[in-house]
Amino acid sequence: MPVKIAPSLLSADFAHIADQIAAVEAGGADYLHLDVMDGRFVPNITWGPKIIGDLRKLSKLTFDAHLMIVEPERYVDDFRSAGADIITFHYEATNHAQRLLTHIRSLGAKAGIALCPQTPVAMLQDIIEDCDLVLIMSVNPGFGGQRFIPRSFEKLREARELIAGRNPPCILEVDGGVGTENIRGVVDAGANAIVMGSSIFGTTDPAATVRVMRRLATE
Ligand code: DX5
Ligand code: ZN
Repeated sequence: MPVKIAPSLLSADFAHIADQIAAVEAGGADYLHLDVMDGRFVPNITWGPKIIGDLRKLSKLTFDAHLMIVEPERYVDDFRSAGADIITFHYEATNHAQRLLTHIRSLGAKAGIALCPQTPVAMLQDIIEDCDLVLIMSVNPGFGGQRFIPRSFEKLREARELIAGRNPPCILEVDGGVGTENIRGVVDAGANAIVMGSSIFGTTDPAATVRVMRRLATE
């Protein structure tokens, strides 16, 4: 499966949000990664369904919503109605991941599950068939611009092995601390969707940077 490039809006300039989205779309991005933070699951706050619904009118990109919130089951319907195409919640945020994955699929979205750095890939053993996307967090969630945790390479390899054996179409996404220096490495470890915030929106020409990242990921 070709690699999906997923710029994370968290690091964009919100005073020029429409231009920033248009830039990464022009550069050939696949997903727009939308980090939803509630100040409870993570120590930061971003946006909810209203903002995602308004952004939906600006872009045809696949909207990849990453919910870093407690009680995600309370909100997935609202994010789907707002236009999220992929809805990813955290394994650590619910006792009923299998039910929530099934519910997200029933809404017509792709169902994703995210693992914090502390959570072993083995926790997916009994639910991997219910996942359309597995997100390996390569930083502790909450902020952009953090350093990639090296152990994540091994977790990506483990997740790729699980997916290859049990659910090959499942997307394997990585999020946090990815840039020009390690994008090739995460792809080699098995990731096929790459979230990048500061390494794309922190550059002067995000459209050109998306093209560079795609080249580094595929050549
Ligand atoms: C962090 C978010 C990430 C963040 C990544 O909790 O989930 O999506 O935007 O930012 P970078 O790519 O700068 O590490
Ligand atoms: Zn994210």
